[in-house]
Amino acid sequence: MSSYTQKDYEQFCDEVWEHNRLYFQENRPRISDDEYDRLLKKVEHIEKLHPEWVSQTSPTQRIGEKPFEGFKEVTHDAPMLSLEKAFTKDDVENFCNRMKKLLETKTIAYCAELKMDGLAISCHFKNGRYVRAVTRGDGKVGSDVTQNMKTLQNFPLRLFGDDIPDEFEVRGEVFIPKKAFERMNEERQVEGLPLWANPRNAAAGSLKLLDPKEVAKRIDLSCVFYGIPHYTKQFKHQYALEEYLSMIGLPTVETFLKQSKMHAIEPVVKLHTPQEILEFAENVQKNRELLPFAIDGIVIKLDDLEAYDRIGTTGKHPRGAIALKFSAEQAWTKMKDIVIQVGRTGVITPVAELEPVNLAGSTISRATLHNFDELKRKDFRVGDVVCIEKGGDVIPKVVACDPEKRNKSSHPYEIPKVCPSCHTKLIKDPEEVALRCPNKEGCFDQILHRLIHFASKNGLDIEHLGVKVMEALVKKGFVKRFSDIFSLTKEQVEKLEGFKEKSTNNLLKSIEDAKKTTLSRFIMALGIRYIGVQTAELLANKAQNLKSLESFTEDQLLSIEGVGNKVAHSVYEYFHDPKELEEINRLVKNGLVIETKKVAHNVDHPFYGKTIVLTGTLESMGRTKAKELIQELGGHPSESVSKNTDFVVVGTEAGSKLEKAKKFGVKILDEKEFLQIMQQ
Ligand code: IVH
Repeated sequence: MSSYTQKDYEQFCDEVWEHNRLYFQENRPRISDDEYDRLLKKVEHIEKLHPEWVSQTSPTQRIGEKPFEGFKEVTHDAPMLSLEKAFTKDDVENFCNRMKKLLETKTIAYCAELKMDGLAISCHFKNGRYVRAVTRGDGKVGSDVTQNMKTLQNFPLRLFGDDIPDEFEVRGEVFIPKKAFERMNEERQVEGLPLWANPRNAAAGSLKLLDPKEVAKRIDLSCVFYGIPHYTKQFKHQYALEEYLSMIGLPTVETFLKQSKMHAIEPVVKLHTPQEILEFAENVQKNRELLPFAIDGIVIKLDDLEAYDRIGTTGKHPRGAIALKFSAEQAWTKMKDIVIQVGRTGVITPVAELEPVNLAGSTISRATLHNFDELKRKDFRVGDVVCIEKGGDVIPKVVACDPEKRNKSSHPYEIPKVCPSCHTKLIKDPEEVALRCPNKEGCFDQILHRLIHFASKNGLDIEHLGVKVMEALVKKGFVKRFSDIFSLTKEQVEKLEGFKEKSTNNLLKSIEDAKKTTLSRFIMALGIRYIGVQTAELLANKAQNLKSLESFTEDQLLSIEGVGNKVAHSVYEYFHDPKELEEINRLVKNGLVIETKKVAHNVDHPFYGKTIVLTGTLESMGRTKAKELIQELGGHPSESVSKNTDFVVVGTEAGSKLEKAKKFGVKILDEKEFLQIMQQ
């Protein structure tokens, strides 16, 4: 008999509910997925021993999100179940043995694939045309997100092929690639909003936005598809089904990785034994960091879809598949100190300085503590032994501490009242989680971070002008504002430690080069609140030049697709602040040139007005450059091949787009031909 009392059991149930609420309703889980899974397993284990204790309100009876508020609810034709979780070698072996028994055969083919850390979605197509998308919800009833799904760039609104069922439902995952997730959190940090705990919450949070315009702004949501809800004779094998999905134009993990030029992992494989499955899992885990999106394990499915259908479900899970979960990469180490960062907009973030520790192959000596609310709630103290985890595969964060190992004399961390950089009293906007330093003009750290941002990759991209050099320039008093960078002299730069003739010339040359820039880069570099790379591009495309951007009214800004109230207000304020305008004038006086996009007038050029798709790798230039050149000639670069495509340019390792181009009879150009035509 178990040593748990009914009271223990009820307490565990309450804990699970509380974590469900934090996770699904508030988007701020307090424990890692791993800890959550373990807690739930414990509840399940007790329920097996004491079925008499199980009540209707046990979290095992209904686990899942509530439908999104404000969306129409839709009942799924076939429930969207979840997968049974496996954690160990034994779990995988047991699954394979179970399959052998159920199917009464010794050789079984499995399809093993990546388990995307996203949000399950079901999409309906009628006669090859997109009609509806529904989230998983609680598995039985989901939310209708048809409009929002349309804004995902890699989601096709039409399928191609002669053999597509008239009514076709496909299931897959909506997710946010890692880079976009990091960028989104950086922007949220600047805005003083709570950070998304992982890419899955970020994807759910973004898809949930009621206004499709808002979703479009986060165009980094992507999707892949991997299954259909019912067995039909047309689709007999899982492996072949996924190939078919990509053939008719639906993105799959395979096509997504090919497009990202990621070849280290074969994302979908056909295997036969537990050993092969475990080897695959090991290889995926080893290369997990290289993937452009977060995964939390692999999924193992019977390849034979008729058998998968025949053995049915347990009610909650299909019998013919399991998810082998990777444990979140965690490590324990000592937190030597808590330091405070002041960002370029004044947001104050606590950061843990750690005794260096190895985490998933890299040495970590700093991790985020998110914000002071979290720090207080978890009572992290300087000197604590803490557990760090790669947040959603990306940013290391402190997730727990061990109070047992704590020095008796330690005391709770005191939340600062003044800015560590300029000693101004900190403020807290009731709508924001973050504390802020309001001293925009005089706070050294804010000024420094604004300057660093101005010169950074997303800003003017000034080579050789990184954090250290900028810090030295500011400390010496040579740079106080953006325009000072443009008027730096040789004499000044040579005064910096370690700067000799060559390094001085290199820095001055990169500054000179950066003076010629594009409008979107410049907007981004200014560091206007709420403006990220994508919004800067939207603004630049609309305005075309700085003068018209400066003259936009708030209403004109609001009329730009993807620009909401906050952005419009912030941009308007910025360009109506005499101090900012004065600085922009100084920049122009010091040599800033904003290049306007060249627009082609040669209507006779073969690319003029034509839709052109690039696939594979070009030797002579990157994809962005090629697209820019096409646009300059009056052509329209596009991502997917359809009947309306005029040319497909094929580089090395071209993917399924080439196949499609052949199928539709689209004109195919190799790189040489492409270059020749461009020169005409
Ligand atoms: S197959 C019974 N394949 O994992 C559901 N699911 O716990 C069968 N997921 O809700 C789904 N990657 O959101 C399948 N390659 C993959 C997956 C995958 C991620 C998610 C999906 C589902 C959850 C199951």
